[in-house]
Amino acid sequence: MSYLRCDEVLKSYGGVKVLLGVNFEVNGGEILGLLGTNGAGKSTLIDIISGITPLDSGAIYLGEHEARGLGSEKRAYQGLARTFQHPQVAKELTLRENVLIGASVSELKGLPRVFSSALGGFFKGWGALSEQVEQVCADVALTDIDRLAGEVTFGEFRLVEIARILMQKPKVVLLDEPFSGVGDSGIQGIIYSLGKLKAAGAAVLLVDHNIDILAPQVDRMALLAQGRIVVQGDVQSCLTSPVFRETYIGVS
Ligand SMILES: Nc1ncnc2c1ncn2[C@@H]1O[C@H](COP(=O)(O)OP(=O)(O)OP(=O)(O)O)[C@@H](O)[C@H]1O
Ligand SMILES: [Mg+2]
Repeated sequence: MSYLRCDEVLKSYGGVKVLLGVNFEVNGGEILGLLGTNGAGKSTLIDIISGITPLDSGAIYLGEHEARGLGSEKRAYQGLARTFQHPQVAKELTLRENVLIGASVSELKGLPRVFSSALGGFFKGWGALSEQVEQVCADVALTDIDRLAGEVTFGEFRLVEIARILMQKPKVVLLDEPFSGVGDSGIQGIIYSLGKLKAAGAAVLLVDHNIDILAPQVDRMALLAQGRIVVQGDVQSCLTSPVFRETYIGVS
């Protein structure tokens, strides 16, 4: 699995049509920046791709395979990783433990199985995993990782999510406003991590409102508006497109 594709994705909530036929693809080693005004449906699209929200019609492809019928856990085991607009962090665990959870997808094939059966094997592999956790935390500029997650800032939650993704060694990555609320060193850490994911061949969908931070990181951009991708292309052509300027920046 090296890329992501959405074919004619439709989604309504009750009578409200949110996605009216969304089409795009992201190749391995590529970052697509997805923009859209508040309520355009960006998070809905990420929830659909990751298997949390069902689509009404259309198809999601992860690599060669259509994801229909696969729940979010199966999609994760196939190499899909994501962050959440409202970060999902276990506050009663330390930052280190929260990040280690990512390895349950890539290395340990399910943390519960580790605890129930292979404790010996787990501890044998622990040294290498522990080093990886420290490395990915350093990558995102997350420090003092033995602190409880309940005691850290919102911006650090975002860094935990990115570090956890790095532990997953994913093939498809969906990032929902990863820079929002993050300080300067964290932003640099996320940018560095994006480079690592790209170099590892992951297909990355990056949603963020901050064009100044997003634009230099992406290979292509797409604008979601009125339920469809209305502009898509290289960064320069998007930023100068009249439709983009009218719809997103409010300049005609
Ligand atoms: N579970 C839900 N039930 C009903 N309506 C929903 C649900 N989730 C999202 N919506 C609606 O779908 C639309 C798209 O929401 P979504 O959160 O996907 O937008 P977004 O582009 O991520 O916006 P933002 O930039 O503010 O994060 C909005 O009108 C929202 O109110
Ligand atoms: Mg959103």
